[in-house]
Amino acid sequence: MDTTNEKILVTAALPYANGPLHLGHLAGAYIPADVYVRYQRLKGADVLFIGGSDEHGVPITIRADREKTTPQAVVDRYHAAMSRTFERLGVKFDNYSRTSLPLHHKISQDFFLRLDEKGFIREEEVRQYYCAPCRRFLPDRYIEGECPHCHSLGARGDQCEACGRWLEPEQLLGPKCKVCGAAPELRNTRHWYFKLSAFQKRLEDWQASKPEWKNNVREFSSGWFKEGLTDRPITRDIDWGIPVPLPDAEGKVLYVWFDAPIGYVSSSVEWARKRGTPDAWRDYWCDEATKLVHFIGKDNIVFHAIVWPAMLMAHEGFILPSEIPANEFLNIEGQKISTSRNWAVWADDYLDVFPPDPLRYYLEANAPENKDADFTWKDFQAKNNGDLADVLGNLINRCLSFVEKNFENKVPPAGEPTGAEAAVLDAARRAVASIGGALDAFQVRRAVAELMDLARAGNKYFNDAAPWSAMKVDRARAATILNTTIQLQAALSLLMEPFLPHSAPRLRAMLGVPAEQAARPWGEIAEVRLPDGRPLGKREILFGKIEDAVIEEQIAKLGK
Ligand code: 2FM
Ligand code: ZN
Repeated sequence: MDTTNEKILVTAALPYANGPLHLGHLAGAYIPADVYVRYQRLKGADVLFIGGSDEHGVPITIRADREKTTPQAVVDRYHAAMSRTFERLGVKFDNYSRTSLPLHHKISQDFFLRLDEKGFIREEEVRQYYCAPCRRFLPDRYIEGECPHCHSLGARGDQCEACGRWLEPEQLLGPKCKVCGAAPELRNTRHWYFKLSAFQKRLEDWQASKPEWKNNVREFSSGWFKEGLTDRPITRDIDWGIPVPLPDAEGKVLYVWFDAPIGYVSSSVEWARKRGTPDAWRDYWCDEATKLVHFIGKDNIVFHAIVWPAMLMAHEGFILPSEIPANEFLNIEGQKISTSRNWAVWADDYLDVFPPDPLRYYLEANAPENKDADFTWKDFQAKNNGDLADVLGNLINRCLSFVEKNFENKVPPAGEPTGAEAAVLDAARRAVASIGGALDAFQVRRAVAELMDLARAGNKYFNDAAPWSAMKVDRARAATILNTTIQLQAALSLLMEPFLPHSAPRLRAMLGVPAEQAARPWGEIAEVRLPDGRPLGKREILFGKIEDAVIEEQIAKLGK
């Protein structure tokens, strides 16, 4: 399909506002989502791209405790930092909200009340660890102890990082309060549960109708279905979060994974209000014709493929997800990312030294789509210097400098084409279709490889046609070759837009692509034409090479 009037609501997982963004975040959700959104817009789809910071939950209170500050101060800092990072990278949300907003609190509480009214919430008396010195019930992550499986110390109440197993706090050997170190005791408390078990059959039937979903999502879900879905506690005893909207729920807040996905709705509502059409969010959320696409990392699969759809089914009136492109993880230099060991590449550190597009390109070309991928600085350097500078950059530079010297920096007139011209322009047509097909199927990796292959085909055409030789004997023939190469670059400047959104407009400016040509929809990109004699813009280097010393400096920062 070339053009479309599809309506697509795209979300990217709301990142916890408890630290800056690193490459793992970007590779998993944000870059693929942004590429997809930009492409769908070029195709003519009506897209709403929603994001925001996840500002509740224990990771945030733990950080605040550690820094002896308030959770609000923590989320204010990281919400501002993350918004800025997304801007620098060109990840362009229509709205980037935050879950600490009163608007979000209200919408989440209403959501809870609606599920309660419909009988999908029940109360239960449970036993939970209580720390007497701290005078509070301890959330899972506030309890540490020995792992019952691998016996490493420092396992958390929800998971042992050493062996990766999920845990219940009661399973820990020698549990201790993470804040004061005291041994907690089990006491009775009350919590509210979402009746997830009631949705097993509907969820299974619904997922059975999605055979095209990615394997990781389907396999993960079928594992949960096989175990049998159980009701999930959706409240917590902490003082940071959204108060449970019931009269007898003093001191209880909604569990962060209950309110976070509702953040997609509230961010959409905020978007609609900001633009002065307060009901416009319903055009997306409440219209069966809308395709809802959740970009996430694999650690979020259960929430997006099972719990959230069940919440939506229980609520009624909202659409269900159509697609859940979940990515695997990105490792760094062969090791799992660990923020505590600083085994991570922080997006802002990167952006302080390098332009955004080489990173985007690397994470697109090396996207962890079907298995974990590895980021290495050397490979990053190789992809920048090889693909971006030597293949794409060189094609542009060689052709445009030749035109500058020999044709007064104007588009040389196209004469009679030969088979070689027809073939390279045909390659462009095929690339447009196959890049589009790949992106429709969330295959960013394949899509960007096709883009680079087209630039390679352009270089091969240029080399074989050798305008410098033609120039000596047949100026008109040389003009035709250069004209063709320029038309190809014009197509590339549009095809690059989803992947390299900072470089694409620079290339269009260098070529002087007229606005009405640049506005062609995706399906017509290969037909973009610059008229004979049109002045070209000022030539510049699109992609600089990266020296070894710069890379060594980055490598040295890891783990420090
Ligand atoms: O894993 C995370 O970073 C979560 N904050 C993602 C939340 S996604 C959504 F549901 F909001
Ligand atoms: Zn304590």
